[in-house]
Amino acid sequence: MCRAVFLLALTVLVCPAAEALDNGLALKPTMGWLHWERFMCNTDCYKDPNNCISERLYMQMADVMVKEGWKEAGYEYVCIDDCWPSHQRDAKGRLQADPKRFPGGIKKLADYVHSKGLKLGIYADVGKNTCAGYPGSLGYYETDAQTFADWDVDLLKFDGCYMDWKLLGEGYMNMSRALNKTGRSILYSCEWPLYEWPHKQPDYKAIRETCNHWRNFDDVYDSWSSIKSILDWTASHQDTIAPSAGPGGWNDPDMLVIGNFGLSHDQQESQMALWAIMAAPLLVSNDLRDICPRSKKLLQNTDIIAISQDPLGKQGQCTIKVDSFEVWERPLSKKRLAIAVLNTQEIGGPRGFFIRAAPGWKICEPQCNVTQILPQYKELGVQTPHTKLVVFVNPSGTTLLTVTPTSDYAGFIL
Ligand code: GLA
Repeated sequence: MCRAVFLLALTVLVCPAAEALDNGLALKPTMGWLHWERFMCNTDCYKDPNNCISERLYMQMADVMVKEGWKEAGYEYVCIDDCWPSHQRDAKGRLQADPKRFPGGIKKLADYVHSKGLKLGIYADVGKNTCAGYPGSLGYYETDAQTFADWDVDLLKFDGCYMDWKLLGEGYMNMSRALNKTGRSILYSCEWPLYEWPHKQPDYKAIRETCNHWRNFDDVYDSWSSIKSILDWTASHQDTIAPSAGPGGWNDPDMLVIGNFGLSHDQQESQMALWAIMAAPLLVSNDLRDICPRSKKLLQNTDIIAISQDPLGKQGQCTIKVDSFEVWERPLSKKRLAIAVLNTQEIGGPRGFFIRAAPGWKICEPQCNVTQILPQYKELGVQTPHTKLVVFVNPSGTTLLTVTPTSDYAGFIL
C-alpha cells in the first residue's frame, strides 16, 4: 500500500503536468502555411484575383510548397483562415464555402492538396460568429465537425470570438469531442487561453487534454514591436505555460511573418530562432509565390527546423536578461542544448556577449562542442566552462547555437 502511494507520488513528480489530447497528432510542432497575417479577409476577387481568399490561393500555395522545397523541409499543412464560408448555412444547417470564391468546394480542394502529399486546414469559431463576422459553430459543433470530416479536412483552427468567456472551456471541449467522434484524425488548434486570460488564469491541464496547440496572446503583426511583445509576454508567463508543452500539445505564439514587409533580415532570424526555441508551431503566413531568396533559405534552414522538431519536445525558456541581451535556451535530445542570444538594443552596432554567461553553459563541464547556426553556420569547436568565446549579435538580431556535451568517459563506454 505504502509502496503504491510512493510510486504514485513518484509518477506525479516525474510525468509532465498533463496528458496530451490523445489523437496521435502534433507529436512535433505543426509545420505549414496559414493565410491570415498576409492575406487577411481579402474577399475581393474582382479587384485582386491573385490574393483574394479563394480556392486558387490554396492550390497555388500547395503547388509552390511541393516545387520549391517547402514540403521537403517539413511544411505540411496548407491552412485556410477566416472568411472562407458563405454567410448562410445550407438547408441542412451545414457550413458551405463561398460558391464564387470556392466553386469546387472544400472537398475538392482537400483532394487537390492531398494529391500533392500535403494536408488541408480549415477555420471556424467556438462562438456565434467568426471574428470577421461569418457564421460561428455555436450550436453546431457536431454538424461542423462532421462536415469537416466529410470534406477530408486535416486541421481545424478554432477561434474564440463572439462567445461568453464562461462557456469557452465547455465549447472547446465539446468541439474536441465532436472531432474525435467523427473518427477522422483532425489536428485541433485552439485559441481558448487567449480569450480567457482577460478574465481568469486558464487551466492549462484541461487545455492540453483538449487541444493540439493553443494561442495565448495577441495576433502577430508584420512588425518587430509585435514579435517583441509576443516574446515579452511569453518570457513573463513561461512558468505557467511552458510546462504544458510537449509531444501532442504546444503553446502557439502565432504565425511566422518572415518573408513579408515589416521585419529586417536580422529580425526575421530572431523570429525563426526563437520560434524554434519555444517549440512553437511553424505556420508561415507570407506569399510563397513571391518571397525573397534569403527569407526562403531562413525558413527552410534544416538546422533550425531540427531544433524546432527535436524529439525531446521540451519548450525552451528565457533564462537571463542582462545588459539588453536575452538568452533563451531549449534542452534538446541527447543531452544537447540550443542557446539563442537576442540583442534587444535597437541602437548601435553588433555587441559582444560572453557565451559562458548563459546559465545553461554549465553543460560544458568538462567540455562541449559548439555549432553556430545563425547568423551563419560555423563550427565553433570544443569549449570549456571558462571559455572566453564572445558571440557578436546585431541589433534586434539573434545568434543561435547548439551545444553538445562531450563526455570524458565516452571512450570507456564505447
Ligand atoms: C482572430 C485570430 C486570428 C485570425 C482572425 C480571423 O483575430 O486570433 O489569428 O484567425 O481572428 O478573423
